[in-house]
Amino acid sequence: MRMNQSLIDQTAISGAVAGTWLEPLVVDLFRHSTELLEKRPHGDRKKWLDAICGLPEINVSAVNFDREAVSCESTNALSRVKIERVRNNLMQLHPWRKGPFDLFGIRVDSEWQSNKKWGRIENKIASLRDKTVLDVGCGNGYYLFRMLGAGAKAVVGIDPTQLFIAQFAALQNYFGAKKAIVLPMKGEEFLSDSKFDRLEGFDSIFSMGVYYHRKNPLSHLEELYRLLNENGELVLETLVIAGGQNSELDIPDRYAQMRNVWSVPTVNKLYEQLEVAGFCNCQKIDLTPTTVEEQRSTSWMQFDSLDKFLDPNDHKKTIEGLPAPLRVTVTARKK
Ligand SMILES: C[S@@+](CC[C@H](N)C(=O)[O-])C[C@H]1O[C@@H](n2cnc3c(N)ncnc32)[C@H](O)[C@@H]1O
Repeated sequence: MRMNQSLIDQTAISGAVAGTWLEPLVVDLFRHSTELLEKRPHGDRKKWLDAICGLPEINVSAVNFDREAVSCESTNALSRVKIERVRNNLMQLHPWRKGPFDLFGIRVDSEWQSNKKWGRIENKIASLRDKTVLDVGCGNGYYLFRMLGAGAKAVVGIDPTQLFIAQFAALQNYFGAKKAIVLPMKGEEFLSDSKFDRLEGFDSIFSMGVYYHRKNPLSHLEELYRLLNENGELVLETLVIAGGQNSELDIPDRYAQMRNVWSVPTVNKLYEQLEVAGFCNCQKIDLTPTTVEEQRSTSWMQFDSLDKFLDPNDHKKTIEGLPAPLRVTVTARKK
């Protein structure tokens, strides 16, 4: 995919959703995305687009979406100049939060080893083979590629952070995954157009790392419920606090230095909220504390990371004295 003046391309949306129930909505999705980008100018957008447009042309001989590092290869030996140009242009899109990726041997060692999360859940979720999948808060699309690697028919990501949309576009320049698209919007904005109310629904929906960013997490779950088809599966991953009670921790200020975390529930509180939203068959498929091995600073994400956000004397607490990050993944069905 070659970008010119925009982070979003109607042909790419059209190609990704062709043959799915989203096909009649291509024009609406493109218009809605374009309007949101116009409403939200970003000072670095030109720099990102220049970096993407300046990526050298390379003959890609293979892409691998079923490996821990989503990767592409070329059978031609690449000159050092070309390799350095790829590396430098990708570095213009720093910080890389999700990954890893490997482009022609260039290892994009992201802050998060997202492969670890995928490895913990991939065999516990419903098969993605031939499914149409939505990933809300998809970041740069790391999991979208892994979902295609697991056989998904089409994958749609939505994320409001424009840097991540730019990273996805840069990756797509070489990966060329025609059945994947990322739309520059929030979960709640995907539904804002009344036309979307007539949608049939996705076969699987992922919401990972988004619930605690929503001031009203119940409305997030209700949106996901509306977007899921009758037999669909929700895969919800979020921060939780330990304990069997039905409660949640309100976050008055920052949580592990994040300004936009509003509340952290227990697993039981999460089940309750899922049921209120209409979901059934809630099942915990993973519960893992986040470690400084899984989330850390690298040359591709040079800002502070988890080790600086935990109490230096007690990694069971955040720097604010709250319980350290513990993440659950729950699957649920539509009633
Ligand atoms: C903690 S990251 C999680 C990324 C990825 N899903 C993962 O699990 O690694 C949260 C992501 O959600 C996005 N996000 C924040 N608010 C959102 C919203 N209201 N709707 C959709 N995405 C949102 C952010 O831009 C960011 O990419």
